[in-house]
Amino acid sequence: MNYLKKNFSLKNYNSFKLDVTTSNFAKFSSLEQLNYLLKKNNKKLLILGGGSNLLFTKNFEGTILYNNICGISIIKENKQHITVKVGAGELWDNFVSWSVNNNYSGIENLALIPGNVGACPIQNIGAYGMEVKDTIEKVIAVEIKSNKIKEFKNVDCKFKYRESIFKKKLKNKYIITHVLFKLSKSHLNITSYGDVSNELKKLKLDANPKNISLAVSNIRNKKLPNPKQLANCGSFFKNPTITRQKFEKLKKKFPEIIGYQISEQKIKIAAGWLIDNAGMKGYRIGDAGVHKNQALVLVNYGNASGKDILNLAKIIKKKIKEIYNIELENEVTII
Ligand code: EPU
Repeated sequence: MNYLKKNFSLKNYNSFKLDVTTSNFAKFSSLEQLNYLLKKNNKKLLILGGGSNLLFTKNFEGTILYNNICGISIIKENKQHITVKVGAGELWDNFVSWSVNNNYSGIENLALIPGNVGACPIQNIGAYGMEVKDTIEKVIAVEIKSNKIKEFKNVDCKFKYRESIFKKKLKNKYIITHVLFKLSKSHLNITSYGDVSNELKKLKLDANPKNISLAVSNIRNKKLPNPKQLANCGSFFKNPTITRQKFEKLKKKFPEIIGYQISEQKIKIAAGWLIDNAGMKGYRIGDAGVHKNQALVLVNYGNASGKDILNLAKIIKKKIKEIYNIELENEVTII
């Protein structure tokens, strides 16, 4: 049986809706199928999940394997916690719904993040006061070179802000097949993020996982474009970290600048504010644009190419460097 499709269009497999092709494409739904495909392949390889954090700048000359390993099953349980094993191909937001519908806590603030479960450890997804690293117990992956399964404990993943070992040292070396999450039966109720507590108040709802996920979904729907309606990959840049000294200097010039203290000497700056304050919110070159409500999100209005979006990103970076002397780093992976 030949699983491979040739010169396959990726338009429906990347949330920027870029019209690029890959030389070979195949889906796998089990470890056996993955093993077969890996043995057969001799081309450059890319594993695709939801395609919600990738910018294709040209056609992909190689093999793209689409991870479709699914399933959510509880494998351990005690009075306080459950451990749940989730297939990398499950939609992240479906897993969040499963968790809140069963009244577990740990990922409710991460509702509505696009993409698949297998991608969540790679960039340690985070939003509204929660990061997935605080819930991941283990990551199970297949090493591409040896076709062998390896388990990574939480500490082995070297999680940081939008970073992990899978984005650095082990980039393109492993294929994540399952993630084990430790969810709590008691409610974490993280509402420290102002928007979340305000939304709960507005809805006249108490804090619990289900209500928090509803509040977060409302906030996201108001601020962030739905990739199904307007193609985008969420935040295009990371929020940069600068020294306190540099922050104080900038604050004199820009009293409104938004920064969060992350350690004694380090401040994380809201890149969305930097771009917005530079007058670039809603800025557009052809079909590539800066979103009108959230300047950290770049969008494709229809026929932008990956190069058009990258060009827009370069212009933004240049302007931010000129105005604030801050170098923005991409959050999205450029292919
Ligand atoms: N802001 C502006 N103008 C803008 C955008 C933002 O002034 O155009 C201000 C906001 O008013 C707010 C601050 O900047 O005071 C931060 O904005 P926001 O709360 O929207 O969050 P963010 O820092 O821009 C991060 C994540 C998002 C996540 C939100 C919510 C990164 C790179 N992005 O964005 O994650 O949803 O926090 O927690 O860390 C993603 O990674 O794709 C993503 C969407």
